[in-house]
Amino acid sequence: AAFKEEIKNASASNQEELEAYRMRFISRKSVLGDLFNEIKNIAPEDRKAYGQSVNEVKQLAEDKFKELISSLESSSGSESSKAPIDLTLPPLENLGTLHPLTIIHNRIVEIFQKIGFNVAEGPEIEDDFHNFTALNFPENHPAREMQDTFFIESNPDIALRTHTSSIQIRVMENQKPPFRTLAPGRVYRNEAISARAHCFFHQVEGFFVDENVGLVDLKQTLYYFAKELFGEDTKVRFRPSYFPFTEPSAEMDISCNICHGEGCNVCKYSGWVEILGSGMIDPNVLENCGIDSEKYTGFAFGMGIERIAMLKFQVNDLRLYSENDVRFLNQFKSLS
Ligand code: PHE
Repeated sequence: AAFKEEIKNASASNQEELEAYRMRFISRKSVLGDLFNEIKNIAPEDRKAYGQSVNEVKQLAEDKFKELISSLESSSGSESSKAPIDLTLPPLENLGTLHPLTIIHNRIVEIFQKIGFNVAEGPEIEDDFHNFTALNFPENHPAREMQDTFFIESNPDIALRTHTSSIQIRVMENQKPPFRTLAPGRVYRNEAISARAHCFFHQVEGFFVDENVGLVDLKQTLYYFAKELFGEDTKVRFRPSYFPFTEPSAEMDISCNICHGEGCNVCKYSGWVEILGSGMIDPNVLENCGIDSEKYTGFAFGMGIERIAMLKFQVNDLRLYSENDVRFLNQFKSLS
């Protein structure tokens, strides 16, 4: 009876008091445990009545325990749940920003979408055919070593793609020309990480295949692109180059928009910076994808997003892009 009284009057205004109550009446070592243990000392004819009354106390203790828990919860929750929402508070201060590479990626896609390009994607883990063979890299040819490759399996070779040109192959073998496609993605190369090189980076590939596509279309398209991205005053120049999958091939430079002719270390005092590789798609590549190279011709280009973002935003170390330092990322807030 004394316990019943004590239970009825129990209260808990914090977790410690609740725990103390639990130890006294609910836990295995509670006073009720002792009462149950007493049962062997009770005369057999009284045991039933004794057991019943201990069970009553136990029930009472458990009901009270639930009551204490719920009243404790509602009292601790009351402050925040009852306070009205202050609609005049300023919006969150710590909103994220778009990553600079995302900003450039989006901008490039937008520029090419305006002239009718669609966007395609492909896998980052590639087989030899899509990354090399179909792109006219001869078997065991040193040209394969132009791009230091991370191989995953050999014979047949599976690797992390070294360029987005593999997407060109995937689209061309699965769809019918004409193509006017942009293929962005992450690529991997086995290079020592430094301010100017990383083991992964991002490229945007583009290709245009139709009847009567010529070098003039390549030049005019890339000229339009350079002006859209870097501004009306941008000058471009094409330099002959070599890629196994294009013939002829050219690299495109833009006039350095940082030094304005005075010389700087971005353009190495030359006034020009290389931004992409390009060329007329080699007929062998079209044939490898089942496209009639007598009927169709095309051009392709590929550019590195990191490099372009470096020029646009004057970033001097490639590693900054993947370090997730908010002091770096926050600088792009106004552009997001
Ligand atoms: N795939 C080449 C590279 O990664 C770039 C390129 C793409 C060149 C398309 C020509 C045509 O260096």
